[in-house]
Amino acid sequence: MSIIKVTGNDMLPVKEAVIELKEYFSSKSADCGRPLTFSIRTYGCQLNESDSEKLYGMFDLMGLSEAPEGETADIVMLNTCAVRENAEDRLFGNLGVFKAGKKENRDMIIIVCGCMMKVKENVDRIKKSFPYVDLVFDPQQIHLFPVLLRDSLRKKKQLVNISSEDYIADDSIIPVTRQRKFRALVPIMYGCNNFCTYCIVPYTRGRERSRDMGSVIEELKALGQQGYKEVMLLGQNVNSYRSEDGSTFPELLKASSEVDGIERIRFMSSHPKDISDEVIDIMASHKNIETHLHLPVQCGSDRLLKKMNRPYTIEKYLGIVERFRKAVPEGSLSTDIIVGFPGETEEDFEGTLDVVRKAAFDFAFTFQYSVRPGTKAASMPDQVPSDVVTERFQRLLSLQNDLTYKSNLAKVGKTEEVLIEGISSTADHIFSGRTMSNHLINFTIPEGISFEGDLEGRLANVKFTSARPYSIDGELEGFL
Ligand code: 5AD
Ligand code: SF4
Repeated sequence: MSIIKVTGNDMLPVKEAVIELKEYFSSKSADCGRPLTFSIRTYGCQLNESDSEKLYGMFDLMGLSEAPEGETADIVMLNTCAVRENAEDRLFGNLGVFKAGKKENRDMIIIVCGCMMKVKENVDRIKKSFPYVDLVFDPQQIHLFPVLLRDSLRKKKQLVNISSEDYIADDSIIPVTRQRKFRALVPIMYGCNNFCTYCIVPYTRGRERSRDMGSVIEELKALGQQGYKEVMLLGQNVNSYRSEDGSTFPELLKASSEVDGIERIRFMSSHPKDISDEVIDIMASHKNIETHLHLPVQCGSDRLLKKMNRPYTIEKYLGIVERFRKAVPEGSLSTDIIVGFPGETEEDFEGTLDVVRKAAFDFAFTFQYSVRPGTKAASMPDQVPSDVVTERFQRLLSLQNDLTYKSNLAKVGKTEEVLIEGISSTADHIFSGRTMSNHLINFTIPEGISFEGDLEGRLANVKFTSARPYSIDGELEGFL
C-alpha cells in the first residue's frame, strides 16, 4: 500500500464529473417535475462526520438538495463505521428497509461508503445479498465520489470500487458543506499506525498521513473570517501529527491558537504514549484552547494494555492525569474504556475501576469489547463470556455515572462562558451549550434580558444553578 498525494490537477476529472452529474440530475428533475433530493446517514466518529461534510459539499455542487427529515431521498447514502459490530448490524438492517423504497422509486440511488467497506466480508455480503445497492466505495476515495457516481450511473449495474491506496487529498481542494454554523471539523491527519490489537481502524483508514501545517492554518484563518467560533482538530492520534516539513502537533496547536476569530480550539484523540508535557502546557497557557482533554485509557491493567498493544503503563497514564489536573485545574478529562477484552480477569477489571476512580474522569465513553475479524485480538484465546462482560460493564457505568454527576455538581454556583449550540431537545425555552471544559449546560434566559435572532453559535456567561447526571442547569447572565 502506498500513500498518494492528490493535487488540484487530479481534481479536474472530478470537476468534470460534477458538471455532468449536475446536468443529468437537472434533466431528471425536470422530467419528474420536482427537485431531486439526497440524504446522508453518518455512523461512527467525527472523522466520518467530517467525511460526510465533504460528501454534502459535492452533492450541493451537483445541484441536489437535502431531503426533509422523514422523507426518503432520491439518493440515499450510508457512511458506515466498522469499529464495533452493532454498527454493522444496523447497516444491513437499514439496507433491507431501502429495498422497499427502491421498489417504489425505481430511479432511487443507494450508495454505501465508509470504513465498513474496507472489510471484504461486508462488501461480499452487499454484492451477494443487496444487488440493488448502486455504488460502494471506501473512505480513501471520498474525493473521487462524483467520478464514481457518474461511472455507476453509466454502468447501470452495481459498481464496487475499493482502493488499495491511501490518498492524502488536501482538504482545500475538496468542497465542504459544514453541518454546524459555529463548529468546524478540521482533520489534521488521516489513518492510524498504532494497530491496537482490538481495533479495525488501521485496516480501514490506512497509514498515518498528516496535512501540511500551512494548509491547516489557512483553513482556520478562513473559518475565523467566516465567523466560526470553534474548531475541532481531528485525527486518530493527533499527538503523532508530523507534516512533511517536520512540523509537530504542539507547533500546530500553538499556531492555531494565534488565528484571529477562533474562540475555541478542541482536539481529539490523544494517545497516552505520545502526548507530551508541552501539549498540556500549551493548553494551560492559551486562553482559546479548550480545557478538555480526551485521553483514552482503554483498561486499567498493564498486562492487558500489553496485549492490546498500548505501550504505556497505568502508572504513566496516571502521571499524565496528575500533570493535566495540576496545570489545568478547571479542566475536564474524558476517556474511552473497553470492557471484556480477551483474557480480562476480575482482577484486571478491578484495575479498570481503580484507574477510573483515581483519574476521576469527568466523562467516559465505555464500550463492550466487540470482536473485529482480521484484528489480532479476534484470534486471542479466552474471549470473555458475554454475561460476564455485561455485568462488568454495568459496574463500570454506575461508577462513571457517579463521577460525571460529581463533576457536574462541582460546577454549581460558578459562572462560566458557554458556547450556545441551540434550543434544548427537551423544551423550547431552554437553550443548550458547552463550557470550555465540554460540560453540557441547559439554561434559561431570564425575562429582562433581550435578544434577537438565532442564538446558535453565540457566547454567553451562564450561572450554574443545579446539577443533573449528564448535564448542568443554569441561567443566562449576559451575552458576550
Ligand atoms: N471493541 C470495542 N470498542 C472498541 N474501540 C475500538 N475498537 C473496539 C472494539 N473492537 C473503542 C476504543 C476506541 C474507541 C474509538 O472505540 O475504546 O478508543
Ligand atoms: Fe484504533 Fe488504537 Fe488507532 Fe485509536 S490508536 S484508531 S484505538 S488502533
